[in-house]
Amino acid sequence: MNADLISAALRGCDMARAGRIRSRAARTIRGMRRPFIGGNWKMNTDHASARSLAHAIAEGTGADWAADVVVFPPFPYLLSVAEAIAGSPVALGAQDLSGEVNGARTGEVSAEMLRDVGASWVIVGHSERRHKIGESEALIADKLSMALGSGLRAVLCVGETRAERDAGKAHDIIAAQLRSAFAAIDAAAMDDVVIAYEPVWAIGTGITAQPADAGEAHREIRSALAARYDARLASGVRVVYGGSLVPATAKSIFAVDGVDGGLVGGASLKAHDFLALCTAATVGVAAS
Ligand code: PGA
Repeated sequence: MNADLISAALRGCDMARAGRIRSRAARTIRGMRRPFIGGNWKMNTDHASARSLAHAIAEGTGADWAADVVVFPPFPYLLSVAEAIAGSPVALGAQDLSGEVNGARTGEVSAEMLRDVGASWVIVGHSERRHKIGESEALIADKLSMALGSGLRAVLCVGETRAERDAGKAHDIIAAQLRSAFAAIDAAAMDDVVIAYEPVWAIGTGITAQPADAGEAHREIRSALAARYDARLASGVRVVYGGSLVPATAKSIFAVDGVDGGLVGGASLKAHDFLALCTAATVGVAAS
């Protein structure tokens, strides 16, 4: 896929058409890892704006869209967003889940509840939950097992802080996060996993990782998967990038070999930008 088409997509020109062109390319050129793009709305929107954002995204994605496009609204709006995206290729995800099945866990939301309102995806181990809420590796591993064991698909987030990167520990940190999360996960369940490499210092800061750094981290993630499982599985799992992705930075990131799309925070709150990123992921990942 040529650079002009990617640029056109990033300018927001005729996004649906670019998506369809990319869709044909995907089936013929790649035939392997389907691009993934997730919109993590975090603790943003209200009921009305969540519904209209969901409607706009659903309308902007055609039936033959060649990427997994998933929106992750706040819990209270899941049901309304499910209704807004019904019949579109957009899937519904939650930003978190409980590691427990049900019962006396005040404030928690179970995997079954998420499925009950139409969610098929869930984010596990987001850095804001690791670092601001204090979730442990053990809890994250429990949540991942619960999600996959309950029929949800999971986006597992991993990534290093700035201090860890500066100390030369980024790869060790990511490898440890992966080891812990996947210790109890069978190879068969890995079809339902997307890994998001999200350097903590890039999230919400306006600083996107350099493509070379993202590429290196993605290679490390695949070699950790090969060590845990095998090379074939490692080359089949989707690994996406997250951290200040905007249309202007996406082109170079999505062109990196091994980057299969993105997890988007701030830019996912604007339908136009998010759709431009969806198109860039489908075009750019095919071209890489
Ligand atoms: P950001 O967030 O795009 O606002 O940096 C990404 C994320 O936290 O998933």
